[in-house]
Amino acid sequence: MSLILAIESSCDEMAVAILKDQRELLCNVVASQIDTHRLFGGVVPEIASRMHVECVSTVLKTALNEAKINMQDIDAIAVTKGPGLVGSLHVGMQAAKTLALAYHKPLIGVHHIAGHIYANELVEDIQYPCLCLVVSGGHSELVYMKHEFSFEVIGQTLDDAIGEAYDKVGRVLHLPYPGGPVIDRMAKEGKHSYQLPLPMNDDSYHFSFSGLKSAVINLCHNASQRGEDIVPEDLACSFQEVAVDVLVSKTLKAAKDYQVKEIIVAGGVSANQGLREALTKRSDIPVLFPPMRYCTDNAAMIASAARIMYEHQQFSSLDLMVKPSYDL
Ligand code: KG4
Ligand code: ZN
Repeated sequence: MSLILAIESSCDEMAVAILKDQRELLCNVVASQIDTHRLFGGVVPEIASRMHVECVSTVLKTALNEAKINMQDIDAIAVTKGPGLVGSLHVGMQAAKTLALAYHKPLIGVHHIAGHIYANELVEDIQYPCLCLVVSGGHSELVYMKHEFSFEVIGQTLDDAIGEAYDKVGRVLHLPYPGGPVIDRMAKEGKHSYQLPLPMNDDSYHFSFSGLKSAVINLCHNASQRGEDIVPEDLACSFQEVAVDVLVSKTLKAAKDYQVKEIIVAGGVSANQGLREALTKRSDIPVLFPPMRYCTDNAAMIASAARIMYEHQQFSSLDLMVKPSYDL
């Protein structure tokens, strides 16, 4: 039995969730700043942390009211310790430490990616050993999990993360930030008519998306210099199919090599319909995707990972520091 209050503030969302036991989510509040950052075409770290400071108390109060819970009843305070934007992380961390100190509760520092992975467990038990494809704005990784809460990163991106590539392609197509979900919708309307290079189509488990991203950017610039129009839906479709193809191929190869029982997908790009369809269709073992509401950053996923850490009494001291990069 556990009742965990979790705070996630690693980027431009300030989120608080309260999770009872494994799956009973009493509230899941997310204050998004996306409309503000959209004006700048991407997340401005200084603005993100300032806005977190402004809203953290309100988000906490809203969460406790929605859950109809008093702080005294909470068993532990969980918080994202990193990776992420350091100023943003600090706001959540200070709020968590203050609550832990004031109410004499244990503190649990959670890795952001462990949170994304355990978002899956909010609906279904993960079968081990499994392979996790982590795809977000900051990560593209293949993680082998032999047991619960054991993480072996077997592949990662050598340059841009997949979400970052999506957002940069979105920018060159003059789409609102973040470009990822918009490109995903446009891809459905288009056809694969542009020839783009397959990114790092080799035997390794590593990814590289900057060449693909640059190819799209160059294609747009060259077309504009020649006064030619591009068909944005077709370019979105071509980019998405190439990106998804390499993600799926490498995931399936690793799943076979490591003889896992299940593939799980995590991170903001796990919302991508093209990826969902292709991986489900091409895999002959079960594939687990988080429900759409838990794909992008939220605190329910942090609470879900913290629930396991709570069971193993993996608590942090009040000296816990945020870091822009942490090993999983
Ligand atoms: O996990 P997340 O919320 O934040 C990070 O931890 O980075 O992921 C955000 C990323 C953004 O790059 C966004 O464009 C991408 O997830 N994203 C998508 C889709 N929904 C969100 N990318 C492709 N297709 C989508 N449907
Ligand atoms: Zn994330």
